Amino acid sequence: MGSEWVPPEVDSQRPSVARVYDFLLGGDHNFASDRDLATGLLRVEPQARELARANRAFLRRAVRAVAGAGVDQFVDIGSGIPTQGNVHEVAQSVNPEARVVYVDNDDVAVAHSRAILADDDRAIVLQADMRRPGEILADPVLKGQLDLARPVAFLLVTTLHLVKHEEDPGSIVAALRDACAPGSHLVISHLTHESEPGKTAAIGKLYDRASSPAVSRSRAEILRFFDGWDLLDPGLVYVPLWRPDEGEAVDDPERFLMFGGVGRR
Ligand SMILES: C[S@@+](CC[C@H](N)C(=O)[O-])C[C@H]1O[C@@H](n2cnc3c(N)ncnc32)[C@H](O)[C@@H]1O
Repeated sequence: MGSEWVPPEVDSQRPSVARVYDFLLGGDHNFASDRDLATGLLRVEPQARELARANRAFLRRAVRAVAGAGVDQFVDIGSGIPTQGNVHEVAQSVNPEARVVYVDNDDVAVAHSRAILADDDRAIVLQADMRRPGEILADPVLKGQLDLARPVAFLLVTTLHLVKHEEDPGSIVAALRDACAPGSHLVISHLTHESEPGKTAAIGKLYDRASSPAVSRSRAEILRFFDGWDLLDPGLVYVPLWRPDEGEAVDDPERFLMFGGVGRR
């Protein structure tokens, strides 16, 4: 593959959480620095690829469920480098009119999203920082695409653990909650140290040199992100347990290290 996907401003020396995740999912939008970190991660957590795939499967099931409940507007925050089963593809498979705004601060994620969305006038990408939700919600491009007076689904899937405690991730979710109409939904998946604290601590250490940290949280801390939202069945559970597709059996769900849940306003 050529290097036409590399934006000129990209820092290829510092591992990017977006590109490490792309590597784990079998993508090729990553550099040696990303593959180095991913190799360290696979040493600590040999199932990291399976975890990433399980998280994407959770995302797809949650988007299908929310679109099936009639929501036709999605804001995917920390959306990542496009891969298979992107949110607009899943949502539009349920409702072809569904509109999606992708948000990421990573140069490669934004450039690649822009390229694949060029022909879809119902899906766009914004380069923005999720730690400033007010700016995202006020962005004229987002407002041109979505009507926040109607229900919207905010997706924060494997992203809130990239925000440190002192950056107050709860305030991000609260800002989204306070800006949205009744019937809106919140989808979260988040790294937890409930089952394997040693492993998640080692992952956190590895990510110290990446573009964002990896901050695992307890189940109670993750549950608090849903304050003001009604958690849909089956609640906050290890990601493979959230409404698994028929016939999907899950052994040892706690080895997936990530809780997922969907709330409704
Ligand atoms: C692990 S990926 C998750 C991608 C996708 N949500 C998923 O779960 O498959 C996390 C994404 O969050 C993005 N990200 C990290 N910090 C961010 C920030 N402060 N603002 C916006 N995006 C951020 C990264 O660039 C990366 O693309």
